[in-house]
Amino acid sequence: MTETETTIAAEAEASAPPSPIYRLTDVTKTYQQKKKKVVALSGVNLSIPAGQLVAIQGPTGGGKSTLLQMLGALDRPTSGEVTLGERNIAALGDHALTDIRATEIGFVFQGFNLIPTLTALENVESAFAGSLAKLSKDEIRERSTAALTEVGLAERLDHLPAELSGGQQQRVAIARALVKNPRVLLADEPTGALDEATREEIMTLIERQWKDRGLTVVIVTHDSWVAKRAERRLHLKQGQVREI
Ligand SMILES: Nc1ncnc2c1ncn2[C@@H]1O[C@H](COP(=O)(O)OP(=O)(O)OP(=O)(O)O)[C@@H](O)[C@H]1O
Ligand SMILES: [Mg+2]
Repeated sequence: MTETETTIAAEAEASAPPSPIYRLTDVTKTYQQKKKKVVALSGVNLSIPAGQLVAIQGPTGGGKSTLLQMLGALDRPTSGEVTLGERNIAALGDHALTDIRATEIGFVFQGFNLIPTLTALENVESAFAGSLAKLSKDEIRERSTAALTEVGLAERLDHLPAELSGGQQQRVAIARALVKNPRVLLADEPTGALDEATREEIMTLIERQWKDRGLTVVIVTHDSWVAKRAERRLHLKQGQVREI
């Protein structure tokens, strides 16, 4: 390459948008409900750049959780492609999907989804259960303690979920989602069960983790206040996506 060509290539690289982490092409998802076919996603085309914070809004039954399941490799589309990085989730077997979920994706579910009989620390450690990359018990304990410290719960390691406030339980859920250093954080209504002050606290925490870790974050929310804090807002209705 000549010097001019090198400069042009470098400039092109600097101005190019970040490469997409997700690319969805003509994604359709239908469920068979007894004799009725339910169309949950209908021809979705979507590209999400790495490092973006995206909010998904829309009416109940619009397909938001279904879309999140596709992004999270929890399920495959009925037709179309969902690529994460270079891999097409639609074409992968169960083992490969399990591996993607274990290494690349952190989930935060509505209603916290913590195991009630385990302490905060044990709940976070449970993220490593069945993990392919075998860490020692001490390493798992160390990383889980660090993750809880990062979300401000260093003093609550031995509390059961019932001994924590709603906001604290959601912090445990976020620590559990992030303890394995995923590239992507997917959250379904992360503030749905929280009051306004706690909602603010949890969004600030998610934003900090997003920035510090360079995560790609997708948040499903009914709450416009939450959605407005995202870089990009999508509306999902009757299985179809549009930008807001
Ligand atoms: N496992 C399933 N079997 C059959 N139908 C399903 C299944 N999961 C979802 N559906 C249907 O697919 C459509 C989309 O559902 P989805 O859960 O994605 O909506 P949503 O936008 O997340 O709604 P909400 O805001 O109430 O959580 C709905 O009509 C729903 O009834
Ligand atoms: Mg839902």
